[in-house]
Amino acid sequence: MHASLLPAAAVVFACCASTVVDAEPPALKDAFRNDFLVGAALGTQHVLGREPAALELVAREYNTVTPENLLKWAEVHPDPDRYDWGPADQYVDWAGEHEMFVVGHTLVWHSQTPGWVFAGKDGGALDRETALERMKAHIDAVVGRYQGRVHGWDVVNEAILENGDWRTGTAPGGPGRAPGSPWHAAIGDDYIEQAFRMAHEADPEAELYYNDYNEWYPGKIRAISELVNSLQAKGVRIDGVGLQGHWGMDYPSLDEIDRMLVEYGKLGVKLMVTELDINVVRDKSENTGAEISDIPGATRANPYPDGLPPELEAALAQRYAEIFRVLMKHKDKLSRVTFWGVHDGHSWLNNRPPGRKNYPLLFDRKLQPKPAYAALLRVAAGE
Ligand code: XIL
Repeated sequence: MHASLLPAAAVVFACCASTVVDAEPPALKDAFRNDFLVGAALGTQHVLGREPAALELVAREYNTVTPENLLKWAEVHPDPDRYDWGPADQYVDWAGEHEMFVVGHTLVWHSQTPGWVFAGKDGGALDRETALERMKAHIDAVVGRYQGRVHGWDVVNEAILENGDWRTGTAPGGPGRAPGSPWHAAIGDDYIEQAFRMAHEADPEAELYYNDYNEWYPGKIRAISELVNSLQAKGVRIDGVGLQGHWGMDYPSLDEIDRMLVEYGKLGVKLMVTELDINVVRDKSENTGAEISDIPGATRANPYPDGLPPELEAALAQRYAEIFRVLMKHKDKLSRVTFWGVHDGHSWLNNRPPGRKNYPLLFDRKLQPKPAYAALLRVAAGE
């Protein structure tokens, strides 16, 4: 039969069969190219070149990176007069060479901040003026050093509790044991505004974000929305809200994800899922969220020491696919989706509680794509 008499689909198949067979499957960044950036958090070990295959994987699959720890205050500014720029410089260099959208994480937080930052002079309580001075010196140094090379900063991390109260000096805690914020205790209600103003001054071009966990709680939606609105009303730059996305197999529900994207979407700022992982071995009694000091009881079992059973990998793939279908529905508002880690062996969810192995990401411990990876490619293709 002459080609022109064949049905259109058959012609396409006949003409392109060899290309289709030979073609590599698209990387995640290509599959979602028209939707949002896709990225991973890099560990310090990756940046220092101790796991080159993991770096190759990130270069191949992703177009944005976030540093898991190396730009946190405790890592980059351990002592008042000492900055440790080594790993941070390597991170920014590598990310720049690979043309990534480079994220900075994080400037003002209650965790992973050295004790001296919150210590008052002469052993007393930290006063407002000293706290603001320390905040400014840190932001000037860190944001200033990478001006134009770090494209977006998580300026403030985890400032609001699930019921919508701010994390204050004496935060009573949300569900679980949320510690208070020494920043709020010393400076007061305007500490977030001050941090955003300082970051903007240090790099007027950089995007600035507020980032948090358990972000689907109605109280958080209300309080974060009020925060963004009030910063904008004062003319303070804020470009986006980061939804960490430390989620489980059964929370948040797809409706909750949908609803929060609708609600935060009303703010008119960029939304991004900044730290996505699915805790596939979580015990139902454990708290949701990602307060890093809230480690589940050490006696919890390690249910899958030798690998996740195939039926659970399949369920994880299904869960990822369902979540990404909701994300795709809101792609007009979403600028980026970043996974919190490169592969299962790297994830911070291992050893929480001590001894428990977790399997929350798209790549296994040998850097091989898991069923969830293929499932996401199918979602990207509209299946
Ligand atoms: C985690 C890192 O992954 C761990 O390596 C570290 O020990 C503790 O912090 N929310 C955040 C991230 O904003 O910075 C946290 O990262 C996870 C929860």
